[in-house]
Amino acid sequence: MFDTMTMTKVAGALCGSLLVFLLGAWAAEELYHTGGGHGHGGEAKQGYAIEVETASAGAAVEEGPSLEELLAAADLGKGEKVFGKCKACHKLEDGANGTGPHLFNVVDRAVGVQDGFAYSGAMVAVAETWSAENLDGFLASPKKFAPGTKMGFGGLKKPADRANLIAYLATIK
Ligand code: HEC
Repeated sequence: MFDTMTMTKVAGALCGSLLVFLLGAWAAEELYHTGGGHGHGGEAKQGYAIEVETASAGAAVEEGPSLEELLAAADLGKGEKVFGKCKACHKLEDGANGTGPHLFNVVDRAVGVQDGFAYSGAMVAVAETWSAENLDGFLASPKKFAPGTKMGFGGLKKPADRANLIAYLATIK
């Protein structure tokens, strides 16, 4: 169950938390010493607790596993479920365009080339192929990745959702 990879990740996470804690402790120390003008020990302690919490929340967002790691551990069943959010506009059968272009064989497919679909042109302006990286960026926030795109979808906020979905889409070919 606990292979080397998992152990390494756990160790990494622990080191990360420790670092954040030390940084927080240092920040609190600064706060405590400089904030002497107003307030007493109790207030300074409160500032300390908040400091640490924001710092570790930020670190958790930035230091998640990479796309590569998420893809390697992807769950196709979950990916298929996530695709439920795309179904209203996208079909997986070759040539079956709907509100959106069909997504048959979409991973590593050229951007914006499906016959008979009226693309906005916003996606070809920023990407050539739907590599896993480009799909990850686009699906996180279509409008940020390709400003002006007519894909009316807010985006998938969770990196693991995107990776599971991309891994699932890669099986459709
Ligand atoms: C409300 C409808 C809608 C939803 C929901 C939607 N899309 Fe789209 N999608 C579109 C449209 C429209 C386009 C064409 C965008 C353009 O031309 O700018 C598009 C384009 C795409 C493309 C580019 C295809 C190509 O041929 O270059 C991909 C990939 C894609 N969508 C994936 C998804 C995935 C995965 C989901 C679900 C997480 C999703 N979309 C949800 C409407 C939608």
